[in-house]
Amino acid sequence: CGIVGYVGKAEAVPVLLDGLRRLEYRGYDSAGVATLNGHGIEVRKSVGRIAELARVIGESPVHGRIGISHTRWATHGGVTNENAHPHYDQSGKLVLVHNGVIENYQTLREQLEERGHVFKSQTDTEVLAHLIGEAFERNGDISQAGLVTAVREALRQVIGTYGIGVLHSALPGVLVGARRGSPLVVGIGKGEHFLASDVSAIVAHTREAVYLNDYEIVALREDGFDISTLAGSGVSFQVSKVEFSAEDVDKGTYPHYMLKEIYEQPNSVRDAMRGRLSPEEATAKLGGLNMTNADLRSVERIILCGCGTAFHAAMVGEYLIESLAHIPVECEFASELRYRNLPTDRDTLVFVISQSGETADTLAALRESQRKGHRTLGICNSVGSTIARESDGGVYMHAGPEIGVAATKSFTSQLTIMTLLATLLGRIRYLSYAEGLEILANLERLPALVSQTLELDAQVAAIAKKYAKAPNFLFMGRQANYPIALEGALKLKEISYIAASGYPSAELKHGVIALVNEVTPSVFIAPRDAVFEKNVSNIEEVKARKGPVIAIGTEGNDHLDKVADEVIRIPQSPDYITPILASIPLQLLAYHIAAELGCDVDKPRNLAKSVTVE
Ligand code: G6P
Repeated sequence: CGIVGYVGKAEAVPVLLDGLRRLEYRGYDSAGVATLNGHGIEVRKSVGRIAELARVIGESPVHGRIGISHTRWATHGGVTNENAHPHYDQSGKLVLVHNGVIENYQTLREQLEERGHVFKSQTDTEVLAHLIGEAFERNGDISQAGLVTAVREALRQVIGTYGIGVLHSALPGVLVGARRGSPLVVGIGKGEHFLASDVSAIVAHTREAVYLNDYEIVALREDGFDISTLAGSGVSFQVSKVEFSAEDVDKGTYPHYMLKEIYEQPNSVRDAMRGRLSPEEATAKLGGLNMTNADLRSVERIILCGCGTAFHAAMVGEYLIESLAHIPVECEFASELRYRNLPTDRDTLVFVISQSGETADTLAALRESQRKGHRTLGICNSVGSTIARESDGGVYMHAGPEIGVAATKSFTSQLTIMTLLATLLGRIRYLSYAEGLEILANLERLPALVSQTLELDAQVAAIAKKYAKAPNFLFMGRQANYPIALEGALKLKEISYIAASGYPSAELKHGVIALVNEVTPSVFIAPRDAVFEKNVSNIEEVKARKGPVIAIGTEGNDHLDKVADEVIRIPQSPDYITPILASIPLQLLAYHIAAELGCDVDKPRNLAKSVTVE
């Protein structure tokens, strides 16, 4: 879900709609705006995309120089106009937008109903609006401080997560926001201020931002803003410079963000390595870990965790760290790790991986791991995100904003960082100076290899066209390319809705082979490596059952032509780089199949870019 708020000298609605469009990728089943203009509150809502809301506003315009808006991804209640935000309080003088989940909303609702409150929707958000409105009326202090106090009192009764924006018709110059567990950022302009759940919504207007912390409340006016805590004390804050510009979040000439982001990968992998390769010491340098070589030397075990695509990067990391640094690694879904009672010893280092830095389960895994006393590091893309701020150190991906819901460039950046990490850990253990230098030399070539791999686009598009109608796909690979098979299957499922699953190649005969038939393509990642022959045997098993085979092989290796129907050749590379290159044709395959089927590539159904609820 997304929040955008504005107070200043301009008309609020265009700013809000532009911001919502930029957040639309995060969640989008309904949307709404509210403004104040001296004649009370004006609200417009609609089910569907922001374009639909813009149409509704076009037919029935709203004006005002202060406003809040929201794009919703349903958690409680169905997708209806009533359930769309903003929501009113009982008096009809207060409106609220909310991201997150109020867990005790049923109890609060019953208590409010006993006090005579009547609800129009089934949402937890409306309960929060009523709670704040009730406190405001009861206190009778019609001032900025009065509204902040009412928000504070209401939030103290709430169990759950929230990022909120609040307006009251008696205070047409004040916009109040608060957060716990759901991000909010303040944008500082000249004679205007912005509130947003993601800085990309407001970067067209300002690049000066203040990221709110949990349990903080902000009151924005045209001429300034005040931040305080839920407990009532003042807060010192830092103004951050936003690294990217509005152009970075535009599609340019590409038909979809996803394709643009796939094509950005030569740069994004370069940016993941920038300043981190040290030929003098023949190693990678990751200063953000805040750990000395001696600290890193004492690490006995590593846990890598994340959700979705980030989890697949963790799985690749497991292979890389084990082979280059000989440290035992365990991968775990963040949603599982947070509730597991994993027996770990003191020298366990935990990494949480998250593009957005806001995924609720990943954040919870970070906090649980810190609670157990483990040094916990973040690998994030979003600068200033909650995970980036709460972790004990970490590595930024520097991939730039990723708008397509299906993660692409952030994944290859994560893989690049895994290689850097494995090199760093390996160099203080088993890797010689010469081996370190060789890895560095290969990493230097990586951006060029990625560019070369992108040249496969036309071939992959033709293959996609041929197989787009298949009802089911299988993806197979071995070693570090097994997680790449999982990721290839995930990409296809996410954006084309075709059933797809990934397996280690040899698992085929333990059940999966029952799915093989003439219309089920098997995609094998079979580069020329130590297990190439083994993959070929598995391909032959599929061919013997008349299954079509699309193989990702290595340039110059003709052997696959004899066994596979289609062969996509990626450049020759060492094992720690191949997973990055092999990901690219799989991203393109999913992209072209989805585009061929007419799917909404950047905004697949039911998915959100960042899942800030459990
Ligand atoms: C969501 C997205 C996935 C993403 C996952 C983890 O489910 O749809 O594409 O991989 O969250 O996101 P994160 O921001 O933590 O990497």
